[in-house]
This record gives sequence, C-alpha cells and structure tokens, in this order.
Amino acid sequence: MCGIVGYVGPRKVVPIVLEGLKHLEYRGYDSAGIVFLEDGALHKYRSEGKLANLEEIMDEVETKSHIGLGHTRWATHGPPTKKNAHPHSDCTGELVVVHNGIIENFQKLRKELQAKGHIFTSDTDTEVVAHLIEEYLEDDLVAAIRRALQEVEGSYALGVMWSKEPEILVAVRNQSPLVLGIKEGGGSFMASDIPALLPSTNQVIFLEDQDLAVLSNEDIKIISLIDGAPRHREVQEILWNIGMAQKAGYRHFMLKEIFEQPQSILNTFRGRLNPESGHVNLPEIGLSEDKIRSFSRISLVACGTSWHAALVAKYWLEKWVGIPVEVDIASEFRYRRLLLGPDVLVIPISQSGETADTLAGLRLAKELGATVIAICNVVGSTITRESHGTIYTHAGPEIGVASTKAFTSQLTAFFLLTLYLAKVRNTVDEATLKQLGRGLLDLPAVIEQELPRLHAELEVLAEQFVQCRDFLYLGRGLNFPIALEGALKLKEISYIHAEGYAAGELKHGPIALIDKDMPVLALVPPDDVYSKVVSNVEEVKARHGRLILVGCARDEHLSDLADDLIVLPAVHPEMHPLLYCIPLQLLAYHIAHRRGCDVDQPRNLAKSVTVE
Ligand code: AGP
Repeated sequence: MCGIVGYVGPRKVVPIVLEGLKHLEYRGYDSAGIVFLEDGALHKYRSEGKLANLEEIMDEVETKSHIGLGHTRWATHGPPTKKNAHPHSDCTGELVVVHNGIIENFQKLRKELQAKGHIFTSDTDTEVVAHLIEEYLEDDLVAAIRRALQEVEGSYALGVMWSKEPEILVAVRNQSPLVLGIKEGGGSFMASDIPALLPSTNQVIFLEDQDLAVLSNEDIKIISLIDGAPRHREVQEILWNIGMAQKAGYRHFMLKEIFEQPQSILNTFRGRLNPESGHVNLPEIGLSEDKIRSFSRISLVACGTSWHAALVAKYWLEKWVGIPVEVDIASEFRYRRLLLGPDVLVIPISQSGETADTLAGLRLAKELGATVIAICNVVGSTITRESHGTIYTHAGPEIGVASTKAFTSQLTAFFLLTLYLAKVRNTVDEATLKQLGRGLLDLPAVIEQELPRLHAELEVLAEQFVQCRDFLYLGRGLNFPIALEGALKLKEISYIHAEGYAAGELKHGPIALIDKDMPVLALVPPDDVYSKVVSNVEEVKARHGRLILVGCARDEHLSDLADDLIVLPAVHPEMHPLLYCIPLQLLAYHIAHRRGCDVDQPRNLAKSVTVE
C-alpha cells in the first residue's frame, strides 16, 4: 500500500508534495520519490528508505515549479530500492506515473512491450503502465491513458504527468483509494488519503472506481475511464483538521491515539445512544425493521485487530440478540464455500475501509444476495461505498500502524448495533437495555480517569520485559479476543513473539511453554468465568510461570497469585473488553519504545493492506 500526492496550482509544488507525503508515510515507507515539470522537462528525484531521505535530497534542489507528483512506497513487486521507487517513466522520460495497487497481468504486458522495443529499468509492476501509455500516446494524454488501461488487470490508483501537456495532472482510480482536493482561488490536489490534503484544503472529492480526473489550476474534470462520459462527484467538507492527524505533543501517534480513546468512544456513541433509555438510533444502516427481523444469522468478516473486534461482537450479539453469529478472517472467508443469502446480514469491519481481503469478502457476500452493512472509520472509503450501509466509527484519523482507538471504537459500534438489534427484535427488556446503555455511557469517563495511572504503571512494568523473547496472553469469554489483541499489539510493534490463547486451552499444549522465563499475562475481570480463569492462573503459578494479572481493584486473591498486578476499576461486565485492552496497548507500546522499535511505523507493516 503506497502513498500518492499530486498538485497543480499557483503555489510551489515541492513543499506541498513533501508535506503531503509526510502525512501519508503510515501507508508505506520503504522508498519515496517526487517529479515536477520545469522548463518543459520532467525532473525526477527518488530515494530508498524513509521520506526524510528524499527531503534531504530536495533541500538541495532549486525550483519554482507549480505542478508535480510524489509517492511513498510499500513494496509489493520488486525490492525497496531507488530504481524501484516511484515515479516510473516511459522510454522518453517525458511521461511519468505514480501508482498504488497491483497490476496483476504486468509480466505479460512487460513481455509484449519489451518485444516492441520498450526498455525497462525497474522490477516493478507499475513501470508497465508508463510504457503502455507511451505505446498509445500521440497528442492526447487522456485518450492514451484510457486506451492503455483497457489492457491492464488489477487494482490501481494512478497519478500521471506528460511534459507535452504541462498544465494538467491525470488521476485514475480503480480499486485503490484516491481522493482529490480543491482550493478556493485555484489549485487542485490528488492524494491517497485525507491527511495529505488537510494542510492545504478540507474540500475533497472521493473518486469512484473507473473514474479518470483531469486536474488543472482552474478546475477538476471527471470522466468515465470506460466510455469517457462525464461523471459528477460531490465535494465533501472534511471536519478533521490537520492537528487531529498530527501528534499533538505525544511522542508517537500510537500513544496519542491510546489517550484519545475516551473521546473516540464518546464520539462513536454520541447522538446514537439515548442516555435515558439505552435506545440506539442507527439510521445510517438504512434497513427497515422488517428487514432486520428477517435475518436468520449474522456473518462478520475482517482482518487483524478488526477481526478481534468481531470476535467480541459474537459474544454480545448471540447473548443479547439471540442470533447465530459466524466470524471469519477475511482471507479465509473469500476462499471457502459461502452459504449466504438474503436472510444473512454480513458485516465487514475495517478501520481503513481499503483492506483488500475484507473488500473481496464484501463483494462476494453481495453477489450471494446478503445484506452488507460495514463498520468503518474512513468516510468515503471503498468498503463504505460498496456496502449497503455503514456504521461509522468516529475515531478520527488513526495514523499509528498498530490500531488502538479504532479498535475500541469498533467495539463501541458493535455494542450500539447489539442494543439496536435487541430493541428491534425485542430480545431485551427495557430495564436491561437501559442498564447496558448506562454501562457504555459511563465508560469514557472511567478510561479518562485511569489512563494517566496506567500509562505510568505500565511504563515501569515494561522495563522487565524489554529483553524477553516470548509472551503468552490468556483470556476467556469476552476477553479471549482481548488476549489475542494484546498479543498482536506486542508482536507487531516490539517484534517479540507473543501468542493469545483461550485460558481453558492452556492445558491442551501451551502449558508446556511455561517456565520461570515465560511471561504470562492473564485477564481476570470479575465476570462469570472468573473462577475458571483463576484455576488456569494457578496452573501457571504451579509451574513457576511469570504472572502478570489484570483484574479488578478490590480482588485480594489476585494480588496473592500475581508477580505483577494491574488493577482496573469495576465497570459493567459487558464493557470489560474496551477497558481491559487498554493496559495491553500501553504495555506493548512501552516495551516497543524501550526496545527502540519504530512504534508508529513497524518494520514490514503498512496501515492498510490494500493488496492480497
Ligand atoms: C492492527 O494493529 C494491524 N495493524 C492490522 O491487523 C489491521 O487491524 C488489519 O490490517 C485490518 O485493517 P483494517 O481494519 O483497516 O481493515
């Protein structure tokens, strides 16, 4: 998954593109490049590694150019080297392309183009697009692009420039995100994501698949890539300011986003949850009550942390709505025989709204006639636009690659959905509905209160585990998915091998791992499986495991068992997943930071995996 930025307008292009790329580095960052047009020629600069390396190069470059493109890369084809960094050129060097996505038939196209004499200089799939456009280029760039892309299979967001048409940039979107910006007084922008535009404008246009846009200083014209017919796209005002997408004084985006969780949970239920009755209002679902009552089961589809949110939701939905719920990892869902139909509600969950496997699952579900309602954090993202409806998590931009506030916002959205469905399907009485709603309403203030203490405590505790090589997380019931999530947080940012396990599974194998050097973190909230988890904890203790327990403040028994005890206040038991994940986020954060890892941009990872 890569980052694209383009600009044409009255201002100098290089500072705009570099600043935009800086706000996209979370999308992929193993190489970067920029190109601008000056004195009739294209000037291209590329570098390996972080964007800062390109910025260093550009510090030495004098230019007044007002039109250009930039790119940060997360390698999919070809190692992250300078020659593979975008932009890529045709044989003449007069045409350049930046790309996000995968050209699935690039090998075939490359061979055909080489047979026609085209010389390739990179290992990338992207380069074939530049040479293919060149093949059809006479005196109309748009016509050549439209003709060339008829032969391309795969996903692409493209930015294209040609020195012979020096006043325009061309943007094309097909299954990879691309958003445009416009500015009063002139100037047009393209970017892979909103934060890149916010320093300059909050007036944005979300391109749809097969849109081709021509950007000039004066305006943006959008046509169909397929037949050239004009297409109208609404201009939307983005309420995020760039400050929300910046660190606001925190050492890392991840830490900022952990501390934003009281607000993001509140923002997600604000205006939807009636504080008095516990009734939930979700008009964005866009389904009649009869349709909602017609569903025989629910199918949840997601990846990574979003899949963990789905695992929690299964407990809530089955307990309070009495409907069978299946949960699938999207990359498995899309390749198994799906028994879906109009009686099934399918819910894809995605922070980015661009995860390829989840998007593919969504499309399959729609083909089979299911109703698809997404839970997503990004307005206008592909998953939201291809679903029948979307429940947005109002977490704001999540820049840290490791998901935190988006996760607890997904849980909030799922709990709202649970209350909503329970009311419509009449599976919960009014008193219980009110009590459940109160549990969620009270949560942000509790988290707000506890965060500073937990931050300080976990910073100290983390010191003991900076050198450890393995970690085991245990949980049961609602908190088994939180054990999985805690393990994922630790492994993805500290590179320590960590596993989450159902506590009851310990004796079926993993207990062989337990010795004095194996840290075991167990979630032991006061719930209906408490005594079972305590038994599992005692099994670990008997084998001299290194026990970290997370439990309720008033629990004396746990302090006898634990080597280290993290205490949390009492909250409604259904709210434990949202509260108990927070010390796990902080533990992972502090261990990773102490290990000198790049917390916000962990190695090998990207914020959204828009390729299979
Ligand atoms: C979460 O910390 C990870 N970065 C990753 O597992 C992520 O949750 C997964 O890639 C799904 O992303 P999405 O929610 O944007 O679809």
